[in-house]
Amino acid sequence: MCGIIGYVGSKEAVPLLLNGLKRLEYRGYDSSGIALIDGPEIQILKKKGKLEALEQELLGGKQKATIGIGHTRWATHGAPNDVNAHPHLSGNGSIALIHNGIIENYIELKKTLLTKGYTFKSDTDTEVLVNLIAEFYDGDLQAAVIRALRRVEGTYGIAVIHVDHPDEIVFARKGSPLVVGIGEGEYLIASDLAAMVEHTRDVVFLEDGEVGTISRNGFTHIKLDESPISRSVTHIDFTLEQIEKGGYKHFMLKEIMEQPITLEDSMRGRLLEEVGEIRLGGLTEHLDALTRAERILLLACGTSYHAGLVGEYLIEDLARVPVEVEYASEFRYRHPVISPNTVSFSISQSGETIDTLEAMREAKKQGALSLGIVNTVGSTIARESEGGVYLHAGPEIGVASTKAFTSQVTIFAMLAILLGRQRGMSDSVAKELIIALKKIPSQVDQILKHQDQIVDIAKTFSRASNFLYLGRGINYPVALEGALKLKEISYIHAEGYPAAEMKHGPIALIDRHMPVVVVAPQDKNHAKIVSNIEEVRARDGVVIAIVSEDDHEVDRLANHIIRVPETHPSLMPLLTVIPLQLLSYYAADLLNLDVDKPRNLAKSVTVE
Ligand code: F6R
Repeated sequence: MCGIIGYVGSKEAVPLLLNGLKRLEYRGYDSSGIALIDGPEIQILKKKGKLEALEQELLGGKQKATIGIGHTRWATHGAPNDVNAHPHLSGNGSIALIHNGIIENYIELKKTLLTKGYTFKSDTDTEVLVNLIAEFYDGDLQAAVIRALRRVEGTYGIAVIHVDHPDEIVFARKGSPLVVGIGEGEYLIASDLAAMVEHTRDVVFLEDGEVGTISRNGFTHIKLDESPISRSVTHIDFTLEQIEKGGYKHFMLKEIMEQPITLEDSMRGRLLEEVGEIRLGGLTEHLDALTRAERILLLACGTSYHAGLVGEYLIEDLARVPVEVEYASEFRYRHPVISPNTVSFSISQSGETIDTLEAMREAKKQGALSLGIVNTVGSTIARESEGGVYLHAGPEIGVASTKAFTSQVTIFAMLAILLGRQRGMSDSVAKELIIALKKIPSQVDQILKHQDQIVDIAKTFSRASNFLYLGRGINYPVALEGALKLKEISYIHAEGYPAAEMKHGPIALIDRHMPVVVVAPQDKNHAKIVSNIEEVRARDGVVIAIVSEDDHEVDRLANHIIRVPETHPSLMPLLTVIPLQLLSYYAADLLNLDVDKPRNLAKSVTVE
């Protein structure tokens, strides 16, 4: 995700900014840049790719500036390239801006600025904002920023400099973190503590709706409505590594815990509750093809494949379009038949998985419209697909995929509503689903807040040698995902099965040493899965059941019960998967394993 660093003081800004940007690298990025005030002009340097590219141009340079801003960009609007990289300069060259977040109404704002004669070089929402600030500037930079932000819808963490104010950096935050660092005669602004802890450990955390200025002499901040703020300075004593992981022991745990936010990010600006519609910008030009689609093909590997299986249930149930989900590695080699009006979606967190990429190429070659559901902006699958939807879940660093899965399922829920609306889904059904979707982030939060019980279960079972995971209907792929999560990081053998299939073979494995995780929320399959639990208990199997909040029917049968809040049955996988992610994480951690880098696995599988 994007990173921000700004410095004003008496030291040379370039090495300090570069060092800050290096500290933000762990968040993932695709381009970087800095802007300096040194003389009568703002100097900007931006480069696609790794920081080294920027560094090579800067080091040995003559820049002696003592004020500057730096950014690592993780593309959202526009491809990762030198032009779209931040900072962005206003058309008159006087203001430079770096921005994290998304300006949702940038198209309307851009239209207004175009009528006033502004021109734009990049595809970004950020260039619109810097010109909007220029439009309002009349000598007071902070006032211009406030006036511009009052017209902005969306999220931002920004830092702004003006050539006529070589002593000031203006900042503002809404929905994207910022922190001010306080040194002696020097101040910093950053999106992340990691970028500044080598310079100061005295910081002020900003809150949403705040705007302010740092200069060589001090720092002031107020609310966007210009009311005053009083906030004390916090002294930080974490290590750098702890800070990068947000204070969590592992990236995987951080990524599990941040799902309430990543899910909001995946839905942001896409749910039109009032009219019961879904807006997925990357599919707009393919809406006709989606209306004509007679078959949808989902291509993926691993966890993304499991998300595709949930997608199959969602799309067939809510939109009544036939769906086939294929392991990408099998699809590409089995000479598949692609009927006319087939739309394929390749699903990938990294956007670089070679099997998924090749399967996408094969589907395209055979005439299917090839769309992507991808997390990493500008990745190969994103570039080669003809359109698609980004997850906006932010970089996933832990090898075991967690937040990408829930964002992928969220995209499928939105896609199913969009397709359903094209095929006669009523307003009320669409609105009911959208309302339920909006509640999911807080319901995930509720599960995360009660994780102590899952830690206890992990303690009981972390030495088990085998696990069975069972689920039915839309929760069957959740059972598969739970088993994959457990085996990949704890090295405990685990298998996922449709619950009713158990009696066709795996039931032979059940005895008192076999923990069986049953995903059994209230839905139309509930009575059936209760019978499956009875079958396990009759053979002395140990049952860990995931059930709905108010359901006490399974209490008498299960050895351990984990409750999740109620939601629309089609959205249940977004909640039932959370305890399974936590169970696998804590089991592996209790075994002292390298959770973020499990043996033999890679985050991005670019070999067949
Ligand atoms: C499991 C996991 C892998 C990936 C798979 C596909 O936790 O991370 O199974 O899901 O390698 O990767 P992407 O989604 O990047 O194509």
